[in-house]
Parts: sequence; structure tokens; C-alpha cells
Amino acid sequence: MAFSELFLDELVRRNDIVDVVSQYVHLTKKSGNNLFGLCPFHSEKTPSFSVNIERQIYHCFGCGAGGGVINFIREIENLTYVDAVHFLAKRAGLTVPDDTVSQEVRNRRARLLELNREAARFFYEALKSPGGEAAREYLARRSITPDFATRFGIGFAPDSWSALSDAMIKSGYSTRDLLDAGLIKKSAKTRGGFYDTFRNRLMFPVIDVRGNVVGFSGRLLGDGEPKYLNSSDTPVFKKSAHLFGLNLAKKTKLGTLLLVEGNIDVVKLHQAGFDGAVASLGTALAEEQVQLLSRYTKNVIIAYDGDAAGAKAAERALSLMEKSDMRVHVLRLKGAKDPDEFIEKFGRDAFANLLDNVENHIEYRITTLLGKHALETDEGRLGFLKEATQMLSNIPNAVEREIYAKRVAERAGVSSDAVLSEVKKAYNARRRANERRRQARERNVRAAVQPKSRDIRYKNEVSALAEEGVIRLLVLDCELFGVLEEYDFSESEFTSDYLRRIYDMIKLRYEAHAEITPSLIANALDGAEAAHFTQFMSKPESLSRADMAMRDYIKKIRAAKVVTQAAEDPEAALLRIVRDKSGCGGYENGT
Ligand code: CTP
Ligand code: MN
Repeated sequence: MAFSELFLDELVRRNDIVDVVSQYVHLTKKSGNNLFGLCPFHSEKTPSFSVNIERQIYHCFGCGAGGGVINFIREIENLTYVDAVHFLAKRAGLTVPDDTVSQEVRNRRARLLELNREAARFFYEALKSPGGEAAREYLARRSITPDFATRFGIGFAPDSWSALSDAMIKSGYSTRDLLDAGLIKKSAKTRGGFYDTFRNRLMFPVIDVRGNVVGFSGRLLGDGEPKYLNSSDTPVFKKSAHLFGLNLAKKTKLGTLLLVEGNIDVVKLHQAGFDGAVASLGTALAEEQVQLLSRYTKNVIIAYDGDAAGAKAAERALSLMEKSDMRVHVLRLKGAKDPDEFIEKFGRDAFANLLDNVENHIEYRITTLLGKHALETDEGRLGFLKEATQMLSNIPNAVEREIYAKRVAERAGVSSDAVLSEVKKAYNARRRANERRRQARERNVRAAVQPKSRDIRYKNEVSALAEEGVIRLLVLDCELFGVLEEYDFSESEFTSDYLRRIYDMIKLRYEAHAEITPSLIANALDGAEAAHFTQFMSKPESLSRADMAMRDYIKKIRAAKVVTQAAEDPEAALLRIVRDKSGCGGYENGT
């Protein structure tokens, strides 16, 4: 999403860089227009971090970091551009103009977030109140300090059917608000009645990376079922898209996030100094959570429970993360059920020791297979080798495949050549299967792009798709011809004559300062041509980043051209090279 220049100007004007930076860095020494402090982006003893008051920028002479107020917030809060803008807007009390979500929806979300925040405050107060005695005792029993309970915003939902809703309604929220936020439920017994969702539970607010309370996770103070109760999905909460503790963990200096199963594990790990701990909220790790993680780090250590369920969950998480470009390691817990219990039993240093000995994803899998098969028997060795070769054949990197094939061979007591050749066989079979799938997919995509009419059939679907994009953008905003000029884009780059004709038409109108609308163009085309034109014109196109989109299309057209040239048949390619040579005056003297 793009923000208007006007809004960004206002945002920057309302967030004075000195004020913003001062919240993170102690700025003192002044020379001219510059204030100095210790750089927050690298460790140093003498201040080389400067903020220029007049130009509203920062620069570190030590590590080279620098930028404006938005860059600063992105860096220090580890936010994306969009999130940093929202962060600063909130700070300055500005409303972010939004062209994708309607005002109504945004108001609704804002209201629910406000309600959640107030509910969190209510739970927090309840924990401190006389009625919170049992919950405070429970926290003490789990050796969670009041300091860390506060840091995580932990609270207590009183043992009452309506304590929270009474308080919230008194603050001006409606039953509808409470229902939508998942804080109350409709009673099946009493007609028209409602009851508080969370009762007599220790409350963990789920806070997103921007600091919004998006939902809750509540634990019983003792045994019973269900042990945990989580907010249902609401307009502001989707369980599979959040990670408990990430709001704090994103600031870790360790460069690694630690993925655990339980909320209590997260709190206890932070308390023991492992401040990169996060948990998925009682669900198997989801794709969206992996994406969220990858925004903050490429290094993840999985520290799931030591039982069979934990191992299974770890395996799932591993396969998910292998698809992204993250470096994943797995920590093996021994002698304790989960990280919390481990630290209680053996102390933080022992846990740090485990962290030093984590296995990468391949090592972890080999160890797991070793535990599964009895290598003393031929049968066990065979089973181990079968599974191990399949697993190794999944590794994209040839060097890695070889290294681990050797290791597997050693463990099974067979020659590494034999293992390696089996792995190669499995790898090639897999690659062929993948290639077949990819080709089938590509055929489908290409078929979908083709116009219905044979007369205007595309020769190069990939390029044509981008050419359609160029036209779509130009019709929507003809000022984008400027971008084409900037890139020296010429109409000869169109691979489709049909699309080139439309382009010429638009250009002519543009140069004559005539009106350009989809209907005017369509009306000038034949039936089948017009039909395809309206079809591709109706595809979504975001005008808020139109110049970026235009650049992307140009790049795609040019990339498609390179690919086609590379893929032409060898004889034709040879001919072209020879011609090119003679064109440059290679063999003969001049032309
Ligand atoms: N969970 C859940 N619903 C349940 C049980 C668990 O949503 N009925 C989620 C919670 O987020 C919990 C996590 O799964 O934190 C891990 O479960 P478990 O290992 O049972 O919880 P712990 O955090 O270890 O809790 P405790 O140590 O208090 O038993
Ligand atoms: Mn536990």
C-alpha cells in the first residue's frame, strides 16, 4: 500500500526526529545543528550517532546507519515500512488514510482494539486486587515474578459470569462490541443472556508487533479442562497469524528467535534472559506465522516439548520453514517436558548449553531416524537407510547432500558411495516429478492468459501478460507514459501485434490530449479484440503504486525476452550469433 505524499509530509512534520530518537537514545552533545548520542544500532563507547535538527535526519559515523524518522522507527522497532508509518501516525495522533480498507471497517477494528486494551487493563487490575490472590499465588508457584507478569501484561479474569462485561458496558461498550471481540458468549439456556468467555483464568494478552492487544489466552489456575482458552477469531485476531511474545521478542539482541509451544514457556524463557522466545497459540505452526517470523529473523530455533507430540509438531514446523529461506535449528529437551520445566530443574545455564548444541534441520532428522531404527539388525539398518536417503534427496544443495550422505553411511556402516548413488537416484526422480508438475502448472497458466480468439493468439504469454499490464495502467493513468520514457521503452518491445495496436491508439490520444477511457478504446476494437481488452482491463490494478507497477511490467517484458532468446533452438541461436558477429564487423571488414 502506498501513502500519499501529502500524508507522508504531514507524518514526518508531526514526528520531530529529535523527539522520536530521544525516546531510544540519550542525545546530548550539541555541535551546530547536530545532536550526538550512543548509536543504538551498534555497540560503542563514544557517541558517533548524530541527529541533524534542521535536516531531520540521523547518521552514525561508526556503523553507517542513517535515514529519516521513518527509517529510524523501521530499524529500531524492527517494523516494515507500512507498520512504521502506522506506528508514527499513532504517535502523532494522525489517522492513516487507507484506500484498501473502508473507513467503516477501520473504525470497527479500532473500536475492538480499544475494547481489548481496556479488557486487558481490567484483567490486570483484577490480578492486583484482593480477588486476585489465588492468581498471584499461582504465578508465584510457577515462579513468574511480578515484574515479568507486568511486562507481559498478565492479568486475571475473575470467577464471575459478568464481571468483565459489566465493567466494559459501564465504560460505554455495547454487547455487540463484546461479542465481536469474543469476550462474551451467547447463553444457550437463558434467552437473550450472555456470559463472560474468560472466567477464573490467568489471562495472557496476545499483543501484535504494533502493540495492539489483539486477543487473549487464558489458563486455568489449576487442573481441569480446557487448560487453555484462546480468543476465537475476530476481525482483529486470527490465531494462526499471531505469535505470543513477538511484541517483546522482536527486540531481542540475540538475532535468533526461539519458537516454543507454551505461553508459560515464553514468559519463563524471557525471565531467564532468553528474550527471543515466542509461541504459536496452541496451533500447529501456520504459514502466516512463518512469514511473520521471517520478517524479524532468518534464524529460528525450535524448542518444542520433548514428547512425541512435540516431535511431530517440530517436524511440521521444520518442513514449513524449509520452504522459506530461514536457517532452522532444533533443540532437543532431555529430562524435562518443556523449556519451563527444564529451566526449573536444571537452571538457565543448562538451557544455554542446549542452545549451543542445537542441530540443524538435517542433523535433527538424522538423529530422529537413528532413534527410530535398531541399527544392530540388518532390517533396522535397511529401514534407516531407506528413510535417510529419501530425506537426503530433499536437500537442494549438492554439497550438503554429499556431506550428510557420508554421515548417514558411517552410521549405518555401509560405503558412502552406495548411499550417495541411492540419494542421487531419489533426487533425480524427485526432480523429474517436480519438473513435470511445474510444466503442467505453466501450461495451465499460459492457457489462461491466451485470448479466446485465435486471431490474436499470444506468442509469448509471459511477456503479453505484462504488456497487458502496461496498457491497463496507461488507460487508468496516461501520465504513466513518463515512466515508459524514463525506461526508454519502445513500442517495438511488444510481442503481441494486437497489444501494440492498442498501445499506439492510446499513445496517439495521449499526444493529442484526447480523452482516454476503457470504453473509448474498446469501441475502436473488433468484437473478439474488444472482448479480450475488457477482460484484461477488469483485472485489479493498484493505482496507489502505479509507477512501481509500471516498472515491474517493463522489467517482466524485458526478462521474458531474455528467456525466449535463451530458449530458442540451438541452430537459430547459432545463426543469430553469427549474424551479430558480422553485424559488428567480425569476419568481414565492415558491412
Ligand atoms: N493450548 C491451548 N489449548 C489447550 C492446551 C494448550 O490453546 N487446551 C496452547 C496454549 O497456548 C499453551 C500451549 O498450547 O500454552 C502449550 O500447551 P501446554 O504444553 O499444555 O501448555 P504449557 O504452556 O506448558 O502450560 P503449563 O506449563 O501451564 O501446563
Ligand atoms: Mn508447561
